Amino acid sequence: MGDVLDLNALLGEVIRLAHEAGSLLVDRFKNYGEVEFKGEGDIVTEADKESERLITSALRSLCPDHAVLGEEFGGSGAEGAEYLWAIDPLDGTANYAGGLAIFSVSIALLHRGEPVLGVVHDPNRGWTFHAVKGEGAFLNGERISVNSHGKLSSTGLFGVSTDVISSVPLYMRFLGKCRSLGSAALHICHVAMGVFDGCVDIHAHLWDVAAAALILQEAGGRFTDLKGAPHFPLPPSSEAWRGGEMPFVATNGLVHEQVLELIDRYGSPPHRG
Ligand code: IPD
Ligand code: CA
Ligand code: CA
Repeated sequence: MGDVLDLNALLGEVIRLAHEAGSLLVDRFKNYGEVEFKGEGDIVTEADKESERLITSALRSLCPDHAVLGEEFGGSGAEGAEYLWAIDPLDGTANYAGGLAIFSVSIALLHRGEPVLGVVHDPNRGWTFHAVKGEGAFLNGERISVNSHGKLSSTGLFGVSTDVISSVPLYMRFLGKCRSLGSAALHICHVAMGVFDGCVDIHAHLWDVAAAALILQEAGGRFTDLKGAPHFPLPPSSEAWRGGEMPFVATNGLVHEQVLELIDRYGSPPHRG
């Protein structure tokens, strides 16, 4: 790609790739092959793996000097890489395997630990979110922004992950109308497009969040850990480079402090480390 990376030239390729992976997932919906257990409540299908193979092999030929970190096959040289692709080939596997058509493909490029290009594609609705750092956030080519709700309210929509729900934290009752779509990337994109006031997840990873966090930031929102510290750029010592957990709060910015205070006051279970 030459010395200076042309992110806009890359963007078209990444969107095309996300669409290709999305079509593969739709084609294999309800015909996804064997299911393996990666851990308690954590499954992977053959379709997850096929989607990741498709994306990583295309990115490796497009950008041979870049490191790649995918959810299913990991990757080498990710830690501290100048350029790193973080890929979730199927965000929403539990939905997918259960026959619920809510899932996405997430592809991000990080430069020195900071997302600079992000694409989240929902093939079922035909929604493609994208952002290039400093150039705004878009849904199917139309600019998007977070909503202007200044406070959490009993009618505002708020995304919570299944892990948050199962831990039944007291703060949930103050967040508004809680929803769980089963895809962290789609949760964050719903904040970016102004539908959700915010969302919380206590067990996310780099591949879940890198693309959507950039989209959110470019849409005017805020993305931090549960104490309000920014996740990006990733510090050199961060476990996130190796796929460690990244619990997060993502909001329209205006309700962020309120959510952090609620989590601080009513507690959150420890993340898995
Ligand atoms: C999961 C989903 C889920 C979120 C978890 C993720 P997967 O990803 O995004 O909504 O709460 O933290 O691990 O396993 O479906 O790719
Ligand atoms: Ca995921
Ligand atoms: Ca996944």
